[in-house]
Amino acid sequence: MSSFETVYWEDPYVVLIDQTKLPSETLYHRYQDPEGVALAIENMIVRGAPAIGVTAALGLALAAKQSKTQDLSKARLEFSHWCERFARTRPTAVNLFWGIEKMKHISDQDFSDTDTWSEALLQEALRIREEDISFCKKIGEHGAALIKPESKILTHCNAGALATAGWGTALGVIRSAFHQGKNISVWVDETRPFLQGARLTAWELMQEQIPATLITDNMAGYFIQQGEVDAIVIGADRIAMNGDVANKIGSYTLSVLAKEHGIPFYVAAPTSTIDIACKSGAQIPIEERSPEEVTQIGGTSIAPQGMSARHPGFDVSPAQNITAIITERGVAKANYMESLAQVMETELAEATERS
Ligand code: MRU
Repeated sequence: MSSFETVYWEDPYVVLIDQTKLPSETLYHRYQDPEGVALAIENMIVRGAPAIGVTAALGLALAAKQSKTQDLSKARLEFSHWCERFARTRPTAVNLFWGIEKMKHISDQDFSDTDTWSEALLQEALRIREEDISFCKKIGEHGAALIKPESKILTHCNAGALATAGWGTALGVIRSAFHQGKNISVWVDETRPFLQGARLTAWELMQEQIPATLITDNMAGYFIQQGEVDAIVIGADRIAMNGDVANKIGSYTLSVLAKEHGIPFYVAAPTSTIDIACKSGAQIPIEERSPEEVTQIGGTSIAPQGMSARHPGFDVSPAQNITAIITERGVAKANYMESLAQVMETELAEATERS
């Protein structure tokens, strides 16, 4: 396991490593107030789809524990307001809404008092966290089987232990392949404008001494053309049922390059990232973040004052560019309508029952 924790519960606090400070400072924040946890998601102190889902679940457990009322129906009403608050933090990663739904499901069960209700919510959040780590390990095993020895793998953004409760998805595949002695090396895209690659992925890989080289995003095509990239592995924020994948802005470009050059383009994600209500990538909401994240780096302007800028945080890689989607339940390949329906068989049956 990693030498750091991304998100955990230390009674009565939710604890987060501050990802805006890494790699220069390793700082942990303790939250005793659910609003602080919601703001931490909004401000990207914690980020990465599975980590956001786990954090929201723990934030909701904190809200339930903090509730002053002994009246269960009042406590449930407060809780539903907190669910709405957490749902407004970030729009693209479906794991957030998945985590909230899991917690709502527990809240709606029969309880005799608020103490047993809030304790059940905490236990569910802790279970979600543990499950995320074990699913990442399984994703790592399934994915490592696809990686050839001596491969040079390119990854984008940070889909590592920092983006999950531990181990990671895309970096989980890389970690597992490395620990199997496959002698791999990693190209790390810096990931403009938030620099998740340069700051976070580079930090994680260096901690474990996994051979890695940092490049700027616009160098990826050059190294692919030179035959220096054998596979691309990325994470995902939301996967539609036709296999379209939303991930960090720049992923689409890589998927096109991979197709053009005939190199495998793998997406690694837990099934909590697959949105059974979403038919295609066109339905995925794309977060538009502050233009200042483009015009400034670390608070310093790099563009003329008043320059207009845009910052879509994510893009969609079409299913036809994706070689395989690696989940904890196994590897799905085209035709994704069929293979993802099989992977999500239980959830689809439950949804049919509910309707
Ligand atoms: O804006 P971020 O940093 O939350 O975006 C994160 C990504 O795009 C990751 O690649 C994705 O969430 C997968 S994390 C396992």
